[in-house]
Amino acid sequence: MSEKIRILFVDDEPAYCRIFRSRIGRDPRFLVETAQSGEEALLRLQQFPADMVFTDLQMPFMDGIELMTEIKNRYPYLFVLILTGLDSTSQAVKAMKAGAYDYLLKPLDFDMVERAIETVCAHRSAFRSHATPDDAQRRGFSFENIIGQDRKMFEIYEKINQVAQTSATVLITGESGTGKELIAAAIHAKSSRKDGPFLQVNCAALSDGLVSSELFGHEKGAFTGAVGQKKGLFEQASGGTLFLDEIGDISMTTQVALLRILELGVFQRVGGTETLRADVRLICATNRDLARAVTEKQFREDLYYRINVVSLQAPPLRERTSDIPLLANYFLDRFRALSGKQIEGFTADAMELLCRYQWPGNCRELANIVEHAVVFSRNRMLSPGDFPELLRQPAQPKSSVTLTSPSTTLADVEASLIRRVLEEKQWNLKQAADALDIARGTLYGKMEKYSIRKP
Ligand SMILES: Nc1ncnc2c1ncn2[C@@H]1O[C@H](COP(=O)(O)OP(=O)(O)OP(=O)(O)O)[C@@H](O)[C@H]1O
Ligand SMILES: [Mg+2]
Repeated sequence: MSEKIRILFVDDEPAYCRIFRSRIGRDPRFLVETAQSGEEALLRLQQFPADMVFTDLQMPFMDGIELMTEIKNRYPYLFVLILTGLDSTSQAVKAMKAGAYDYLLKPLDFDMVERAIETVCAHRSAFRSHATPDDAQRRGFSFENIIGQDRKMFEIYEKINQVAQTSATVLITGESGTGKELIAAAIHAKSSRKDGPFLQVNCAALSDGLVSSELFGHEKGAFTGAVGQKKGLFEQASGGTLFLDEIGDISMTTQVALLRILELGVFQRVGGTETLRADVRLICATNRDLARAVTEKQFREDLYYRINVVSLQAPPLRERTSDIPLLANYFLDRFRALSGKQIEGFTADAMELLCRYQWPGNCRELANIVEHAVVFSRNRMLSPGDFPELLRQPAQPKSSVTLTSPSTTLADVEASLIRRVLEEKQWNLKQAADALDIARGTLYGKMEKYSIRKP
């Protein structure tokens, strides 16, 4: 690595700053700056374009989570690692949820620190950087048009790199708007077939009558209306990749036809006699639960196993909230350029609103909402008022206690909540206590009191 890795270390304890600077700073690969408060750290960052920030969790005035939130808002491309004592690991969990890349326990083990720095660097170099030199804060956070620096996304990038080396059929699952199409395109772009065609077909839009001819082509006169020979998608995509989107929506007839081509690797044009060999990498995507469709007999099991050779799951946006500021700024850049408006960014309130929302429509919904705000805003900074009312409504809890009778007591509610969290955490007491933000002993006591036992 030619350029030095820039690290900002934040701790209210001056001695800790000194030790970190001398231990990590003596490594020629690293350039270390320190700050003794969140406020100072933010000032430092204006002059020092860091690659990563280590911050103590407990600090007077602005604590580590507040600092991280502010950093993510201003420099969404920065990695933040949290330092915490053993006594506050539940806080560390909170920090991870709020977008920390990782957390390290104090007292610091400097070998661990070095390893953490190296992991961040390895992940960063998995990216292709589109940054311009004067855009130092935004170095390399896009992987083939996919934006995201959450761990779940790094796992996706790694998997894309791996499967791109093979020609195995890939199944991409995930909710609507999570970027399945981008992932498919990335696999193609990284593969040895990248100079071949990348063709895409929405299976839900294929009518039963036409599907065979669409996929396999037809000969002249094969059926009424077949005025000439036509090459199907499998032929057109030869040497490249065919992306079958919404595969969960294909009819039984089409499933049989697809199975044949996957099993034999050959096909014939409709009305033709010549046997053609398919030289195509298949990528399939669906937002349906295919395994369930199989048990419900709506999807052929044999076909499911054929397409599910390698599977990739695009995580929903609410499970990678640390990417929300990154994506929001990315979409802002995109729509700002289109609109020609001079919008500088998001106010802290606005960003908080975006980060709290559940995003049922995932990245697509975020893109739409940012676009709408850019078009209609008259301010230099986008503020909560620029976003739809919907975002301001509190999130609905997944399952809630039903207050069936007026005699429901606070104790009933508490017992029911504890039961629910325990079930959610598979009866792991530590995790449940953390989620409830109470001590494990307290949880024990309450379980006794309400006679809650693992079934
Ligand atoms: N990680 C991401 N980075 C940047 N843009 C993204 C990302 N994920 C999704 N998008 C954007 O969100 C929109 C929807 O993405 P995409 O079409 O890939 O979703 P999908 O999972 O295929 O959805 P559907 O199931 O509805 O077809 C696109 O405009 C895409 O550019
Ligand atoms: Mg799609």
